[in-house]
Parts: sequence; structure tokens; C-alpha cells
Amino acid sequence: MGFERQKDFGTPESKSEDAVTLTIDGRKVTVPAGTSVMRAAAEIGGDIPKLCATDNMKSFGSCRLCLVEIDGARGTPASCTTPVGEGMVVHTQTPRLEKLRKGVMELYISDHPLDCLTCSANNDCELQDQAAAVGLRDVRYGYAGDNHLDQPTDHSNPYFDFDPSKCIVCSRCVRACDEVQGTFALTIDGRGFASKVSAGQGEDDFLSSECVSCGACVQACPTATLQEKSVKAIGKPERAVVTTCAYCGVGCTFRAEMRGEQLVRMIPYKDGKANRGHSCVKGRFAYGYANHKDRITSPMIRDSIDQPWREVSWDEAISYTANRVRTLRDKHGANALGGITSSRCTNEETFLVQKLVRAVFGSNNTDTCARVCHSPTGYGLKTTFGTSAGTQDFDSVMETDVMLVIGANPTDAHPVFASRMKRRLRQGAKLIVIDPRRIDLVRSPHIEAAHHLPLQPGTNVAVLTSLAHVIVTEGLADEDFIRARCDWDEYEDWARFVSDEKHSPEFLEPVTRVPAEELRAAARLYATGGNAAIYYGLGVTEHSQGSSTVMAIANLAMCTGNIGRPGVGVNPLRGQNNVQGACDMGSFPHELPGYRHIHDVETRNLFEKDWGVSLDPEPGLRIPNMLDAAVDGTFKAIYIQGEDILQSDPNTQHVAAGLEAMECVIVHDLFLNETANYAHVFLPGSTFLEKDGTFTNAERRIQPVRKVMEPANGYGDWEITQLLANALGARWNYEHPSQIIDEIARLTPSFAGLSWDDLLIRGSVQWPINEKFPDGSPVMHIDGFVRGKGKFVITEYVPTDEKTGPRFPLLLTTGRILTQYNVGAQTRRTGNVAWHAEDVLEMHPVDAENRGLKTDDWARLASRKGETTLKVLVTDRVAPGVVYTTFHHPETQANVVTTDYSDWATNCPEYKVTAVQVVPSNGPSEWQEEYTELSERSRRIADSTAMEPAE
Ligand code: SF4
Ligand code: SF4
Ligand code: SF4
Ligand code: FES
Repeated sequence: MGFERQKDFGTPESKSEDAVTLTIDGRKVTVPAGTSVMRAAAEIGGDIPKLCATDNMKSFGSCRLCLVEIDGARGTPASCTTPVGEGMVVHTQTPRLEKLRKGVMELYISDHPLDCLTCSANNDCELQDQAAAVGLRDVRYGYAGDNHLDQPTDHSNPYFDFDPSKCIVCSRCVRACDEVQGTFALTIDGRGFASKVSAGQGEDDFLSSECVSCGACVQACPTATLQEKSVKAIGKPERAVVTTCAYCGVGCTFRAEMRGEQLVRMIPYKDGKANRGHSCVKGRFAYGYANHKDRITSPMIRDSIDQPWREVSWDEAISYTANRVRTLRDKHGANALGGITSSRCTNEETFLVQKLVRAVFGSNNTDTCARVCHSPTGYGLKTTFGTSAGTQDFDSVMETDVMLVIGANPTDAHPVFASRMKRRLRQGAKLIVIDPRRIDLVRSPHIEAAHHLPLQPGTNVAVLTSLAHVIVTEGLADEDFIRARCDWDEYEDWARFVSDEKHSPEFLEPVTRVPAEELRAAARLYATGGNAAIYYGLGVTEHSQGSSTVMAIANLAMCTGNIGRPGVGVNPLRGQNNVQGACDMGSFPHELPGYRHIHDVETRNLFEKDWGVSLDPEPGLRIPNMLDAAVDGTFKAIYIQGEDILQSDPNTQHVAAGLEAMECVIVHDLFLNETANYAHVFLPGSTFLEKDGTFTNAERRIQPVRKVMEPANGYGDWEITQLLANALGARWNYEHPSQIIDEIARLTPSFAGLSWDDLLIRGSVQWPINEKFPDGSPVMHIDGFVRGKGKFVITEYVPTDEKTGPRFPLLLTTGRILTQYNVGAQTRRTGNVAWHAEDVLEMHPVDAENRGLKTDDWARLASRKGETTLKVLVTDRVAPGVVYTTFHHPETQANVVTTDYSDWATNCPEYKVTAVQVVPSNGPSEWQEEYTELSERSRRIADSTAMEPAE
């Protein structure tokens, strides 16, 4: 794609099914009723001048540039606010209109700095375009009168500037912040000539305002008033490539706009079906890590982890690695080897890593980071519905009447989808939040949850069972749906179970700490409020009862008939960009791609025949079991692609002990991460900008990732895995990821209709895609569940073994923050540190006062497993007895304190419940100082092989 702005139709598309035919400039056009005259003209290639209108916001009608004449109508109405009418005859270009438009434009231009030649938006400015479009040649008013040209520029945001001297007060930025993002950070202060855009109160600049730096206002601004600093530094882009964000599971589509080999900016793509033209601060701006100086671009090896790294050629690195792996396999057998796939890499790369482990190493010891996040989703949804995935697409939320959000914080972790949720909530949908913390959705501008159930961490199952108790005992279950779609006998058993008085909200209130009346009201709303959809996150899965909680959620949706149509469903909000894909691609030790058990002879035969090898029929080891086996001396080598298990996995000391005990740790990553402290081989990875492939987002949407620049290390990650496989005797011959897609489609029924070329035409597709669903599947389980009858599962509440007591009286729960991402390896290397430079410990005022702690004081956080120190933030967002922190910074190492407890079915760690004590401290602990020193040493080595930083 060359560099052209996406066409702007001026006003949003009408969804009406009624058609209207009118004539515009002598041409007939038929459009849906409710379409604006401006949009109807644009549909036939017309281009009515406009400044305040843009097609992702409601029309506003302030600039008066889009005037038209309509036969039989008085005056010159604004085409952006005038809906089409049957038989209407419209003229968009007449001498009268020309004169009026020139007059309007003259007024704008007379108060605008005429520095077009040196302006960073030159040739990419709507004001400039419209001045040309109306034929403005002269300005009669002169430039000497009152103006706004001396207003200072606000440079406070790390990514964009606000230069009010160029503002035409069109309000597009304000409306983008309100309507698209839902933050309401901007206002127009003053009236008439004194009107000006203001971020927040009084003297607030953008950085200190409520702005979350989503970029919607920058995108909406028709002038250079709000503009990316990168455009000012590099210049106007000259080409654009459509690709997919590599951060979270929303999977936003972007145009990567390039100048030469430099990425100028990422612009959210209007045709992206996951984001519909919106973005968050991470995908929009935080891509600078891709050429940060810490990035390693040459392979490195060392015989033992106390030696310095030695930079070597790719040939030497691959043959050294293959020799070490081969030696260990010969000596200890295939089961001593394993691998971890990455949820940040493409489907094709993930597929190859599990293939390497199964077909080349010869074991099934493959696992993925979903082990520590959404493995209970896999187990729970497969058991109840028959497949391990969310049931809806994101668009579905616009038909939802009641949203139940449990254990998820969408405004921080899935921000673009959160904006869609907020838009629907502002339209009147109701919200139930089940979370120990008062997340932003509970109360934000123009939004207030109908019910917030601030449960005690660890009591999800008790709360969900008591919601079911109310629904069943008050006769609110959808018996017709259950009889038609589910196993009735299992339902009856389950209904008897939940109806027991011991599951009533009143009986469980002392355990859950949720007021019984509030819980009853929430249950009634969910069951009777219309289309009800459940959205959940890691606050559901990362518990010792994670799988039970997922099944309890599925029970709730089935018993109210909220499955199988738009607006309803069960939707896990996946964390990392490709965690869905990593699970789909057979990363788990017991499942081949497409969630087929390794025990299944027919499936195994299919792969054995295609791959020309025999596969081990027994499931392999999960990550925690690999680490245990390493400590026991039976597991010797691991290939870790794009995952920092030392920082992301629980009980850091145990992870370190496992890695230290191995004889060959191969880390394949962008940076010398914390796990690399224990590695013998470091294989530099490539970024999402440097390769082709696909990611699958939280709505099962498979989307293309496109190469926009050459890999700095010389190879895409899929090529490096292939080099290693071939050095170990395989004969792989992939020349492009499209051939890997063909193999995936050939071997996996749910992807049978997938091909690279087709994907590029469609833009994206939601699996299953096959003969039965040739266009993919936006909504699942429409006519029946994948497993046949939906299965109700009895979910007995079992309190976690992690108990509070006199030594550890508080409960710690963890989560994410908007501007950082997971272990922070990428976002800590971007301007996002302006918002979150360190992890802090949130603490209720009563708990803080009891300990003599104030905001910004250092505190020691200790559990039965370990301790760390952090600064305190006193806030009533958390309930008394609960403390909360994020885990984005290696210096904090929040996982030092988390325990070994895990989900009974999947081993997903219980990150969300740790009994802790908090006491005042003078600063970082000795352990943290040692740790920081170790990381610094690694970084110094990294510096010696570093690329130059980007400007
Ligand atoms: S960047 Fe986003 S949040 Fe900030 S003012 Fe602009 S639209 Fe609002
Ligand atoms: S900053 Fe841009 S979008 Fe906002 S009012 Fe001014 S010109 Fe319009
Ligand atoms: S919401 Fe997620 S996918 Fe979208 S831009 Fe932000 S981080 Fe990227
Ligand atoms: S574009 Fe219609 S009034 Fe501004």
C-alpha cells in the first residue's frame, strides 16, 4: 500500500435496513435511511468540503463548510447533519455555496499561522486540503487583528504535542475523547473567539490530566494542533502496511506508516474488525522498544552461566546449540528436553516450536505461558461447551443489555474493547462488576455499575454459585433453553446442588463478604435484564479453583440461555496478543493443534504421517513439572521462545533453582531478559514489525502480521526454529509462513479453510473456518454446543489452602496497568515509563494507618514464600484487608512472594491470592539490590552489542 489516508466518509454508517434513493449532483444514489447527505455523496465519490465532521463520530455541525443546496428546501443546510430523504435532489457545488465556503475558510485562515511550508503536517493537513478544495486564494481580513498565534505548545505528553496556535476549535478532539475513547479528558473552555481546547482543569497539561494517551484526538485533529512527535522528527510517511498490534488480546489492526526503513507512526485501521479504528497508548505509541539500544541482534553462547557471553555467528550458535541438545538427548533421553512457546510470537512460530519439541526433540514437553494465565479457560470451556475459546466477537457487545465483568479490568488490560463496552454502557446497558478492587469501570464519566460485588479474593466460586442459587430458586432459569440445548439430567443435579441453602447469598456472606441483598439484585439483573454477556480475565483463572470458576461461569450462561446469539456469551479476555493462538497451535503437553488429545490414535497418526516421525503417545511435562524435574536432575535442556519465566512465573526462587539445574537453557528473545541470566545460548528474536505471520485474538480472530522492515538480527523467529530443527536432523523446508499455515490447515479441522492469500483478502477471520463455516464463526454454539449437549458441572467451593493469620493478615492480589505490559520488557523501554515508572502497593487507608504507612513510603511485603519492597499508594480502591500490586518491573519481582498453590486441573498458579504482611521499610531489600546488580551486569553486556537507539 502506498501512503494515502483512509477515505473519510464524514459521518458514521447507518445500520438501517430501509433504503432511500436521492439525486446528488445529477447522480442517483441509494443508501440506508439515516445516512447523512455528506456520506451519501462520499459513497459515490463526492467530496463535500468539511472540517468538523469525521466518520467515526456523530456529526456536530459547527464549521459550516459542508453546506449544500436542496431543491425545495430553504437555505443552505449542513450536509453532515442533514439526513437523506426519498427523492431529494442535492447540489453540492453552486456559485452561492462557493462564496459561502470561501467566506468560512477565510475566517479560519485569518487566525492560523501561515507556516505551511515548514509545518510538520504540510501535505497531510485537512485545513490545507479544504482551503484548496474551496478555491481560497485570498484572505480579506488580514492577519493583524486579535488572534491565537502566540499560544505556547504543550510538549508534556511523551508521544504528541498540542500546539493551540493551530487550533480551529472544531471539537473533533473533544468528541473523539468522549465518544470513541470514553475518557472525557478534554473540554472547550470559554465562548466565541475565546474558545479553546483544554485538557482537564485549570493549568493541567496533557500529561497531568485524565488523558490516557490513546491517540484518538490526535487522529481526529484535522490540523497539526495535535500531532505525533515522531512525524515532527522523521517527516511525513511515504508508505503504509496494515498489520496487527503485538501487545494485548484485543488484536487491534494498524497501518504501520513508514518513511524509508523508519516507522513514523502506527495509525489504527478503520477497517480493523477488532478495533474499528481505535487504539490504546501501547499499540499506538509504545513501539520504540523495537529498535531500543538494549535489543540484542547477534547470537551469544557460553559454556556455563558464570561465564561472560561470547558473541558468535548464527552458524556457530546453531551448531553449538544442536550439539548440546543432541548430547543431552543421547545421555538422558528425549524426556530430558522440552520447550516453551510464546504467546507473543505468531501462530506459525508457535506451531514450529511445538513441532520441534514433539517431532525433533522427541518428547511432548511443550508448554506455554497460558499455563500461568488462561489454561483454566481451556479446561473449563472445553468441558462445558466443547471448545476452548470465547463465544462471541467484540461487535457483539453492542447488542448486550447486561455486562457481567468478573476478575477483569478492561480499561487497563484490554483498553480498546473497554472503550466499546463504555460506549454501550452510555447507551444504557447495565453493568455488574465482581472484583475485590473498585476498577475504573465501576465508576467513570457517565458510567456507574448497577452492582459492584467486592468479594474477598479466593471466593469466586462461592459468589458464582450463590448467583446461580438465586436464579434457580427464584425460578429465573431458562428451562426451554436448557431442555433444548443442555443435558437435562446434569442440569437437575446441578440445580439441586446450587439450590441448597448453604449456597444462598445470606449463608455465604461471611465467606464472600458480599452483601446478600446486593448479590441477589445482581443475579436478578443478569437473569432478566435481556441479553447478558460475561467477560472475565485472570482474576478468574489464576486461582486454585480457576477451572471450577470458568465452569461456574459457563453454568450461569447456560442456565439463563445466554449463549449462541449476538449480545450474550462467555468471553475470556485473553492477556497477550496471541495467547489464544498459542493454545490453538498445540502448545500444551497433552494436546496436538486444535485441542486434540495426544492419546487420540487417529489424530496422532495424522501428524505422524505428515511429519514422518513417531510421536510419544503420553502427555509431556507442564512448565512447573519441567522445573521440578530439573531440580530432581531428570530434566536437562529447554528452548524458551519469547517468554521470561523467571519474572512471569510464580515462586521465583524455585524457577531460578530449576533453570540453574539445567545443562542447556536456550533463550530466544529480543532482550537479555531475567531468564537469560540462567541461559547458555541466547538467540536474538525478531519483532512483529520484522516478519509475516498471523496472531489470533481473544475473539478467535486470525489476523495477518506483516513485515514492514527487515529483521535486525537477519531472521524471523520461525526461521531460527527451522535452523535449529534442521541442525538436529529435521528436513524442514519452509520458505514463508504461508506454507506453515497450509500445514496447520491440512492437519487441523477447525482451520481447514485457512490460507494466507485468503486472509489477506478478507483482512481477518474467526475460527472455526472450514467446509461447515466457510466464512468463519463470529458467534459460536448457535444451533448447538460443539460438544453436543451443554454440560452443567457441579462446582463445589473449596477455600484455598493459602490462609491469612496473625503473621500474614492481608491478602495480596495482582494485576496490570494500562501503560505497561506484562513483565514490562517492551513497555519499560518506551516513553510509557512517564506514567508508571515503578510498581506500587495499593493499600486501604485503615490498613495503612494501622502500620504507620503513607503514600510514597517504602514498605516490606512478605509472604510465606519470600519478600520484596515497594512504595505504598494509600487508596480506598482496595477493600480493607486486601493489598494490590502490578508485576511490570523486575526490580520489584512481585512473584517472589507468590506461592506454589495452583489450579487443581491445570496447574495455573494462584497469583491472585497470597497471604502477606506489610511493614514499613527504609528502601529496597538486600535481595533486590543483589538482583538489580545481576540484571545490570546483563544489561552492560547487552550494551556492548547494542544497536543505536531510535531518535
Ligand atoms: S489521547 Fe485519548 S484520552 Fe487523551 S485526550 Fe486524546 S482522546 Fe482523550
Ligand atoms: S485540537 Fe485539533 S481537533 Fe481539537 S479543536 Fe483544535 S483543531 Fe479541532
Ligand atoms: S488494546 Fe491491545 S491490541 Fe489494541 S492497541 Fe492496545 S495493546 Fe494493542
Ligand atoms: S463538516 Fe458539516 S458543519 Fe462542519
